[in-house]
Amino acid sequence: MSPFRLTRTLPEDATGAALRADVRAGLTGSPKTLPPKWFYDARGSELFEEITALPEYYPTRAEREILLARSDEIAAASGARTLVELGSGSSEKTRHLIAALHGLHTYVPVDVSESALTGAGQALAAERPGLRVHALVADFTAGLTLPDTPGPRLVAFLGGTIGNLLPAERSAFLASVRSLLAPGDALLLGTDLVKDEKTLVRAYDDAAGVTASFNKNVLNVVDRELGADFDPDAFDHVALWDAEHEWIEMRLRSRTAQSVKIPALELVVDFAEGEELRTEVSAKFRQEGVRAELSAAGLDLTRWWTDGEGRFALSLSVAR
Ligand code: AVJ
Repeated sequence: MSPFRLTRTLPEDATGAALRADVRAGLTGSPKTLPPKWFYDARGSELFEEITALPEYYPTRAEREILLARSDEIAAASGARTLVELGSGSSEKTRHLIAALHGLHTYVPVDVSESALTGAGQALAAERPGLRVHALVADFTAGLTLPDTPGPRLVAFLGGTIGNLLPAERSAFLASVRSLLAPGDALLLGTDLVKDEKTLVRAYDDAAGVTASFNKNVLNVVDRELGADFDPDAFDHVALWDAEHEWIEMRLRSRTAQSVKIPALELVVDFAEGEELRTEVSAKFRQEGVRAELSAAGLDLTRWWTDGEGRFALSLSVAR
């Protein structure tokens, strides 16, 4: 039996159909919105990698600091024999945790990108003989079926990506994660924390303009995939702090009154001068809020670790 398996649970045209539905719903509604998951084509993933190295973008470094410091504690507390990682990408940040999980039987990386999964999964299987790697090409917001592997299970959802879900999506997501777990199994969750507005806005509006390019790239995706004629340079990047919801919003502001054709949808979308299209929310959290949202999903928060500057948290919660 090969130590590396890959299961594809996304139907062939699932991505195209979902993109069409999201773009139609988002650009015919008011205010206009697009879901952030469409940032991540090859170019967008490259730009996101660049963002993680920017001086202003602290979350990736803060989370890595916690993982390096706490992997042994996480491993001891979970005793996991199966590690499931949602949105695993290149699995880079999980390597340290995997090394600390001495009793690990199977690693299940889950991502929509098959190329990222194959590269990372094969490398890991080779590095750690005896570790089974069962990669899943799947959309983890949709509802997963996991391979039948030994417990206890640890599900990891890192990077603060839960902040990109709206509150109702977040509770549905946490409930679906809970349904993957047996009592005593655990969730390791990365959450960016509320902090001063200046630090937050700078992290999403960097001086070099990489985040602006990342934001505008979603228009390139719609152009390429749906034949649209968005001109990314006809929009300005906007990042603002919504103090009421405690989230950062990224928007694209139309510089002029303009019409955009989207042939694949037989749709023309009009923008007024200054009209804004919301492309992302990135919620920031407090411990009490995280505890309450986890509890509502049947998960009890048992551990809470932050980086030295208190910017980012990893929490461990246990299924009731
Ligand atoms: C790591 C996906 C959660 O919201 O901070 C980075 C994505 N957006 N800069 C985040 C992102 C703008 C990021 N996530």
